[in-house]
Parts: sequence; structure tokens; C-alpha cells
Amino acid sequence: MNKLEEMKRIRDEVTVLNGTLADLRRTNGTFPVLGEGSHDAEILFVGEAPGKNEATTGRPFCGAAGKILTELVGSIGIEREEVYITNIVKDRPPENRDPFPDEIALYGPFLERQIKIIQPRVIATLGRFSMDYVMRMFGLEFEIEPISRAHGKAYKTETPSGTSLYVVPLYHPAASIYNRTLRETLDEDVKVLLTCLI
Ligand code: URA
Repeated sequence: MNKLEEMKRIRDEVTVLNGTLADLRRTNGTFPVLGEGSHDAEILFVGEAPGKNEATTGRPFCGAAGKILTELVGSIGIEREEVYITNIVKDRPPENRDPFPDEIALYGPFLERQIKIIQPRVIATLGRFSMDYVMRMFGLEFEIEPISRAHGKAYKTETPSGTSLYVVPLYHPAASIYNRTLRETLDEDVKVLLTCLI
């Protein structure tokens, strides 16, 4: 199966998933948000869960936080289309509440399959849920710190197939919408992604 077919299979499985968020999505007539971008991306961004705009369009990070993410990617000379952008949770939690642990456990394996398909060199996590999940996934659980300390650090690890991978925790772009200082921190931290590709 090629990458596109594998991605489509994931989409098909998420579409018919059983669970509160998937049921809610079918009731509301909205969409699951699988991810978008290059299946050969060197950088993979992992957010938390879709918001209202995302569930309405089926596209990740297409609202206010998405605008910031697009600017951040552009600021290091990369087009949004060259990276891959997804979330841990593929369906929108109601009222944009934090995802519950059982929801992260339900959707997380789909993210893991996407990571295996794309095989990025760097995973930039957006926010603490994504940082926690991805660091645990790659055996970095003993290095997990509060995001106020971990942001902008590059954690080197290995994939199960033996290739090297960096995990770079970033603040969630949504947190920087009304916080100028945090936005400046994000502008600095995103540059770390380039150093991981050298
Ligand atoms: N916030 C997220 O974590 N993901 C999105 O896709 C949009 C907003």
C-alpha cells in the first residue's frame, strides 16, 4: 500500500469510529480532521484537537491559531504545504474543552500510524497534550518537564526503525493570540526546527 492509500485507510477508520466525539460529529454534520500537507514532510506539527473552524471544514489549523501557525512556518522559509499538520484527537471536543484521557487513548494510535507513514525528521508538538503524548511515544517520558521549561528544546530520540528524530515542544499558537510575549517566544522557538534539519 502506498502512503496515500494508507492515509485514506486511516481516514476511513476514523470516519466510522465509535465514541462520543465521533457520534457528536455525525449528529452535527461536521467533519473529522485527519491532517494536511506533504506525506514526505521533514517536519510534522501535532496540535491538540480540531476547533470549530476545523470541524466545519475538515482542515487542521484553519482559524486564528492556524493563521499564526502558517506565519511561524513561513518565518523559517518553509511553505505550509511542505510540512504536515495534524492533531492527536481527530474530532472536535464540544465547547473546545481539553480532550479527555480516554479520547487521547482512542485517537492517539491514528497519529502513531501517521507518523510511521510520514517518517518526519522533526516533530513539533503544539501545547502540552501533544508534547506529553509524543514524548511518551518515543521513550522520552523521563525528560518531560512543564511546557514553560520544555518549549524550544530539541529532544533527540530514535524511531523503532532506528532513524534519528527530534521532538521540539512549542507553545500552542492559540495561547499566543492575545499574548505578545508568548508570540515572541514562539517566533524564537520555531527557528530551532531548522537547526534539527542540518
Ligand atoms: N487547535 C488545535 O490544536 N488544532 C487545530 O487543528 C486547531 C486549533
